[in-house]
Amino acid sequence: EFRVKVVSTGAVVPVMADQSVAEALKQSGIELPVSCEQGICGTCVTRILEGVPDHRDFFLTDTEHAAGNIFTPCCSRAKTQLLVLDL
Ligand code: FES
Repeated sequence: EFRVKVVSTGAVVPVMADQSVAEALKQSGIELPVSCEQGICGTCVTRILEGVPDHRDFFLTDTEHAAGNIFTPCCSRAKTQLLVLDL
């Protein structure tokens, strides 16, 4: 379990082990654009302001994965306790 913070509202949302970041945000009333929900299409790509993502997608390049400033909230997770998202 980790948390994501929505920078525009300051909302901090817990992400349980059995849900995606996108699902957790949706439960809190924050709807992200999602399509494949499998890390393939890139529809959900979101900018990260703080924290380290645990990439699970097949869309971003190795360079983008290494840079760690964008991720796919439909399937990717976090290596840090908190991700601050540019939402
Ligand atoms: Fe397709 Fe996230 S919805 S990569």
